[in-house]
Amino acid sequence: MYNPFSLLGKRILVTGASSGIGRAIAIECSRMGANVILTARNEERLNETLQQMDNIQLHQIIVADLSNMDDIKTLVDSMGNPLDGIVQCAGFTVPKPFQFVNQKDIDSIMAVNFMAPAILSQMLLKKKMLNKGASIVFISSISGVWVSYVGSSLYSASKGAVNGLVKGMAIELAAKSIRVNCVNPGMVETNILEKGIISDEQLHNDMQLYPLKRHGKPEEIAYAVIYLLSDASAWVTGTNLLIDGGYTLL
Ligand SMILES: NC(=O)c1ccc[n+]([C@@H]2O[C@H](COP(=O)([O-])OP(=O)(O)OC[C@H]3O[C@@H](n4cnc5c(N)ncnc54)[C@H](OP(=O)(O)O)[C@@H]3O)[C@@H](O)[C@H]2O)c1
Repeated sequence: MYNPFSLLGKRILVTGASSGIGRAIAIECSRMGANVILTARNEERLNETLQQMDNIQLHQIIVADLSNMDDIKTLVDSMGNPLDGIVQCAGFTVPKPFQFVNQKDIDSIMAVNFMAPAILSQMLLKKKMLNKGASIVFISSISGVWVSYVGSSLYSASKGAVNGLVKGMAIELAAKSIRVNCVNPGMVETNILEKGIISDEQLHNDMQLYPLKRHGKPEEIAYAVIYLLSDASAWVTGTNLLIDGGYTLL
């Protein structure tokens, strides 16, 4: 059946595949025919993702802590065949007022949200593990690019850095026919919201700030990632795809 968004036979690495947006991306990629390599730290939750995917036998789990350079190297060495796509989704936030932020906080957030996706992409390139026509998709945020929040200065800085990286990489890698883009979601219903960071009342009030009056669902981000991974976006590179229910319009 004609489908310009098909990922049939494409090998896609998804980081942060044990939860939330990364889990939805892995599942939806499998439904579009991709062979997915799932990575995160928690093997049990990676297996839970795998159980929800189509064609389970086509996919592979590699456990790695992306704050650890040795783990990133092992991940790259375990990849086997070259990839047609990478989705850099692993990330976290620890809300803290800027006045109380210390060096350790900066190092830990930047290590996972910025350094790891940058180094992982670079290692895969150097080892020639990306096929011609490959697509790299970073999951950034509206935070740090269009808006920020109280206690979010570090998270915003890490995501702003990702957006800058995408532009430079897109220019340099175009010569290799490798495309580099990022998706910038507004608030999405995932574990990131279930860790007691935000109360139910705050969540409800926050939804009212969205013209579409709700937060996003993980699969609504996954569908955009599928577009950027597929040949339908063959002429798209260096772009920020904003998916925020209209939040940044107001
Ligand atoms: N939810 C939102 O509202 C929202 C909005 C904009 C952008 N984002 C971005 O979307 C991405 C996914 O967020 P989410 O909401 O889906 O959060 P989530 O449910 O908490 O998932 C985060 C993922 O990152 C992985 N991860 C965290 N630290 C890691 C480390 N050191 N090494 C390897 N993997 C690590 C986690 O796996 P393990 O714990 O198993 O390692 C998990 O799979 C993040 O980059 C986030 O900044 C989220």
